[in-house]
Parts: sequence; structure tokens; C-alpha cells
Amino acid sequence: MSSSSVESKTQVVMISGAARGIGAAVARTFAALGHPLALLDCQPDVTELARELAATYSVKTLGLILDVSDRSAVEQAVTRVEDQLGELHTLVNVAGILRLVPLLEMAAEDWDRTLAVNSTGVFNLSTSVARRLVTRRRGCIITVGSNAATTARTQMGAYAASKAASHQFTRCLGLELAPYGIRCNIVSPGSTDTDMQRQLWTSDEVPAGVLQGSPEQFRLGIPLQRIASPEDIANAVRFLASDEARHITLHDLRVDGGATLDA
Ligand SMILES: NC(=O)c1ccc[n+]([C@@H]2O[C@H](COP(=O)([O-])OP(=O)(O)OC[C@H]3O[C@@H](n4cnc5c(N)ncnc54)[C@H](O)[C@@H]3O)[C@@H](O)[C@H]2O)c1
Repeated sequence: MSSSSVESKTQVVMISGAARGIGAAVARTFAALGHPLALLDCQPDVTELARELAATYSVKTLGLILDVSDRSAVEQAVTRVEDQLGELHTLVNVAGILRLVPLLEMAAEDWDRTLAVNSTGVFNLSTSVARRLVTRRRGCIITVGSNAATTARTQMGAYAASKAASHQFTRCLGLELAPYGIRCNIVSPGSTDTDMQRQLWTSDEVPAGVLQGSPEQFRLGIPLQRIASPEDIANAVRFLASDEARHITLHDLRVDGGATLDA
């Protein structure tokens, strides 16, 4: 077994944005595998999810309420997790926000906040955790980005820019950590059935334009004709964290049903 992969059930996994959507699905996936879990979110109910997963899967969990853009809160949380759960092995950056506004109408606060959470938040958590990983020469980091990081989208300028920053940060970190045997990868979802996605819908149905495409938004649609479930994304994260992916680093695994033609 490679020491750079999450295989042993004792390896501690930290997940940001764990209270909802993709982060909660990632948390459930690793809980089912028996890993001790640190669940981070700005929503207070992350502590309830931590309790629920501990009871259901008989794993140690710690739910911590914090804002990933707050560097000192992140540093304190990482210290507390290592004190209470043990040495961290895997970090999954999932926390993110989407503010849908055309760029010329965007308030400076929307731009600043989007980059603070989606880019600086990834920097804060990844560097804090990586400083511990390098001393032990093992572990891995996975950033959940977006297919918008590489494909231009209307009304998503700040979001796409913030995701491009977190993608390239994760790759550069992977390059600097490779000599320590630590892998850093990206999972890029397309449309995925979560609260973030549903804020774009006007009913409970997937809008036809999402699946069929919408020329006025320069969208091609989704060749596989479905949107992802949060579990589809969690499965990709689990693979990249596993020993099966021990020779994969600096990779961007697109999970979007072909929506961006893998471009
Ligand atoms: N749902 C999609 O269609 C989709 C597509 C591409 C990429 N993504 C990305 O996947 C990730 C998860 O998205 P989701 O769809 O599950 O969204 P979501 O809104 O359902 O969940 C996001 C979680 O992040 C938390 N969060 C937000 N800001 C935070 C902060 N400052 N500090 C700590 N926690 C914070 C929220 O409280 C929430 O629990 C995001 O990074 C998002 O950009 C989602």
C-alpha cells in the first residue's frame, strides 16, 4: 500500500463545505469506509451531520463551524483536529459559493467574497494541512473545482475566475509536494443536484436548457442527458484519494457528463 493514499481506516479525512450537497456526500462516503472525519462548514448544522455519521458508521467525527476564508480560524481548526482525531491524511476542499451576476453589474463585494471563499479558502486550508503532511511525507489533497474553471460562462465570471485560481493553485501545490510523495488533484463537477444548482432552477424539474443546451447562454447541454448526483462527485473524490490513484497527481478529473466536451 502506498503511504500517499487513503486506504487505512485510521487515516483522518478533513472535508470543507461538509454540511450540504457534494461535501455531505463526500463525508458520507468516507464515513462508510470507516475513516475518522473532520467536517468543516460555516453552517451550524455541520455538527449534527458529524453526530449522525458517528452514530451510523461508528466512526470518530468532529464537526467544526468556521469560515474557510478566515485564515486564523482555519489554522486553529486544523490544530484542533490533529489534537482530537489524530494526524490528518486527506483534505477535500469542497466549500464554495456561487453568485450569479453579469460582470458589469457585479458589486465589488460579490467579486471579493467569491474569491475569498473559493480561492483563498482553498489556499488557507491546503497550506495549513500541507505543512503537517510534508513533515510526515504522506497524504493527499483534493480540490472540488468546477468545469467553469476552464469554460467561459455568462453571469459566472467571478465564480469561474475563482475556480481557475483554485485549480491552478492545487496543481502548483501538487508540483511542490510531489517530492514528499503527497498528491494533489482536482475534481471538476458540472451541473450537480444540490442547493447551489437548484438556485438556478425555477421549479423542481431540471431546466430543459441544462440538458439540451441553451444557445443564448452559449451552453452545449449535457451529452449524457442527466445532471450529476452529489454521489457521482463523491465517487470521483474517493477514487483520487485511494491507492488505486497512487500515481495520479496534478490531475483535473472532469465529472460533467461531457458538458464541456472535456475541453
Ligand atoms: N452543484 C453544482 O452544480 C456544482 C458544479 C460545479 C462545481 N460545484 C462546486 O462543488 C462545491 C460544492 O457545491 P455544492 O453544489 O455542494 O454547494 P452547496 O451550496 O450545496 O454546498 C456548499 C457548502 O459549502 C459551505 N460553505 C460556503 N461558504 C463557506 C465558507 N466560507 N466556509 C465554510 N463553508 C462554506 C456551505 O455552507 C455549504 O454547506 C463548490 O465548491 C461548488 O463550487 C458545484
